[in-house]
Amino acid sequence: MAAPLPSERAFIPFVSVENMMRLVHHVGIETVLVELTDAIEADFRRWDLFDKTPRVASHSHDGVIELMPTSDGAVYSFKYVNGHPKNMAQGLQTVTAFGLLAEVSTGYPVLLTEMTLLTALRTAATSAMAAKHLAPANSRRLTLIGNGAQAEFQALAMKAVLGIEEVRLYDIDPRATEKTVRNLEKTGLRLVPCTSAQAAIEGADIITTCTADKQYATILTDNMVGAGVHINAIGGDCPGKTELHRDILLRSDTFVEYPPQTRIEGEIQQMDADYPVTELWQVVSGRAKGRSSERQITLFDSVGFAIEDFSALRYVREKLAGTDYFQKLDIIADPDDPRDLFGMLLRAA
Ligand SMILES: NC(=O)c1ccc[n+]([C@@H]2O[C@H](COP(=O)([O-])OP(=O)(O)OC[C@H]3O[C@@H](n4cnc5c(N)ncnc54)[C@H](O)[C@@H]3O)[C@@H](O)[C@H]2O)c1
Repeated sequence: MAAPLPSERAFIPFVSVENMMRLVHHVGIETVLVELTDAIEADFRRWDLFDKTPRVASHSHDGVIELMPTSDGAVYSFKYVNGHPKNMAQGLQTVTAFGLLAEVSTGYPVLLTEMTLLTALRTAATSAMAAKHLAPANSRRLTLIGNGAQAEFQALAMKAVLGIEEVRLYDIDPRATEKTVRNLEKTGLRLVPCTSAQAAIEGADIITTCTADKQYATILTDNMVGAGVHINAIGGDCPGKTELHRDILLRSDTFVEYPPQTRIEGEIQQMDADYPVTELWQVVSGRAKGRSSERQITLFDSVGFAIEDFSALRYVREKLAGTDYFQKLDIIADPDDPRDLFGMLLRAA
C-alpha cells in the first residue's frame, strides 16, 4: 500500500530568495518600502500587545548569530539572523536571515521565508518610519555612510516615504560607493559620491550610518555634526560595535526600539545604564514627543527589533495570497490520527 500523502496542514508556504525577488518586483520596490513602513508603524502603535525580549545572541570572535522572537498573542514569529563583518572579504554577505510565522492557537507554522532581502527592506522601512517622526520638516538631503548591502534600500525608503531628493554617499571602499551609484542611477535621486565622511555630511538633513566593523568605530565625531540633523545609526548593533563618538550622544536626543536590547547592542552601550532614551513606539503612537525644535539633534539608535520582523513576515504573508510566489514545503508531521505518529513512519517504509 502506498504511504499516505501529507495532509494540507503539513504543507507550509515557503518563500525562496527567487520568489521574494519576484514578489518585490510584482508589488514594486518603493511600494513595498512604503507599505512596510505603514505595517511596522501599525504594529509599533500596538506595542503593548507584544511579547518582548532582547534577542538571543550567540557571539563568537568572527560575528554573531541571533534569534529574534515575538508574538502578539495571535501570531508568533522568529528570525534567525547573523552579523559577520568579515564575511564580505570572503565574498559572503555580512547579514543573512530567514524567518517563520506561526499561529499561536495551534503552534503550527504558516510561513517560512528568506529574510536577507526582507531584513534590508524592513530595516530601511524602520529608518524611514523613525525619520518621518524625527527628521527636520521637508528633509531633502540624505547622507549615507557605508555603502554596502543595506545602502540602496535605505536610500529608496527615504525617497519613497520622506521625499528625499539628494543622496550623498561615502564608504572607505570607493567600489562600494560606485556600486551604490550604479544601482540607484535610474531612481531619480540626485547622487553625490564623496571622498570623505566630512564632505558627505555637508548640508545633510538626515545622516544614516550603515557601516560594518566589529569594533568601536568612530564614523562620526562630535565636531562633524551640526545642529538640527537627524541621525539614523544602523551599523552599531552588537556589543563592542558602535559607530558614533559618545559626545554626539550627549548633544542628541536618543530614540530607541526596545531599551533592554538597545542598552546591550546600540550606540548607548557607551553610556550609563540609566542614560535617558525615548522609545520610538511612544513617539509613533503620540505618547511622547519626537522632534521638538529646529536645532535639536535627533538620533535613532537602531539595532533592529523582533516586532519589525513580525510586521514584515505578516506583510509578506498577506501579499502572497492569490500569487504563486511560494512553494509548499512538507515541514510538519501531521498524521490523520494525531496519536499515530509512529504508524505514519511505519507506513512510509
Ligand atoms: N539596525 C538594524 O536593524 C540592522 C539591520 C541590518 C544590518 N545592520 C547593520 O548594518 C551594517 C551594514 O550592513 P550591510 O549588510 O550593509 O554590511 P556590508 O558589509 O554589506 O556593508 C558595510 C559597508 O561599510 C563600509 N565601511 C566599513 N567601515 C567603514 C568606515 N569606517 N567608514 C565608511 N564605510 C565603512 C564597508 O566598506 C562596506 O561597504 C552592519 O553593521 C549590520 O550589522 C543593522
